[in-house]
Amino acid sequence: MKLKYFSHSGFQLTTSTGKRILIDPFLTGNPNAPVKAADVEADYIILTHAHSDHIGDSFDIAKRCNSTFICVNELANYCSSKGFNAHNMHIGGGYNFDFGRVKFTIAHHGSITPDNHYAGEPAGVIISADGINLYHTGDTGLFYDMKLIGEMTSIDYMLLPIGDNFTMGITDALKAIELAKPKTAIPMHYNTFPVIVADPNEFKKLAEEKGFKIRVLNFGEEIEL
Ligand code: NI
Ligand code: MN
Repeated sequence: MKLKYFSHSGFQLTTSTGKRILIDPFLTGNPNAPVKAADVEADYIILTHAHSDHIGDSFDIAKRCNSTFICVNELANYCSSKGFNAHNMHIGGGYNFDFGRVKFTIAHHGSITPDNHYAGEPAGVIISADGINLYHTGDTGLFYDMKLIGEMTSIDYMLLPIGDNFTMGITDALKAIELAKPKTAIPMHYNTFPVIVADPNEFKKLAEEKGFKIRVLNFGEEIEL
């Protein structure tokens, strides 16, 4: 499975079977976006919540690619109401798709669409494909049940925010990896806006002092997991 980082909380997964899955593709209006929405393709789009910096370019991409949305029930219904394919799920539930398994977790945050529709609870998501378990926490503050999440699933990669203000900052993100115990953590949700400026290499240094492995991805970088 390949993982590409678009900056902010946006990622693209490409499985060994060639399925392309986007998570929170926020490109237009994102000063760090390395690609244009028109150049991105998706079979599936997973949204952690409905804030504009996570829905991003989803609808334009889904329209062009006939993508299927995967999100919590209320947000999936919103996508359906706009004419898109959607698979409704909810927190704690998992489902086996043709590319792998998706399970939603709690996240402590908000979720309302840019046009003010309630979009259910915000979520994190665990994607299991090609033998890899990847946990994208979504936007969240620190919570102790990250320990439970790590106990129930051996997390290979944990993608977690470090930008502070709207989400965990570096100090809380360090505690988050102590709780969830991922084999590798990848910081996200930083340096997009002035209020979420944070140094991913400071996070890396502090985490490595505690024995954790951190991979800081450049905006636009793609790695093989
Ligand atoms: Ni948000
Ligand atoms: Mn956000």
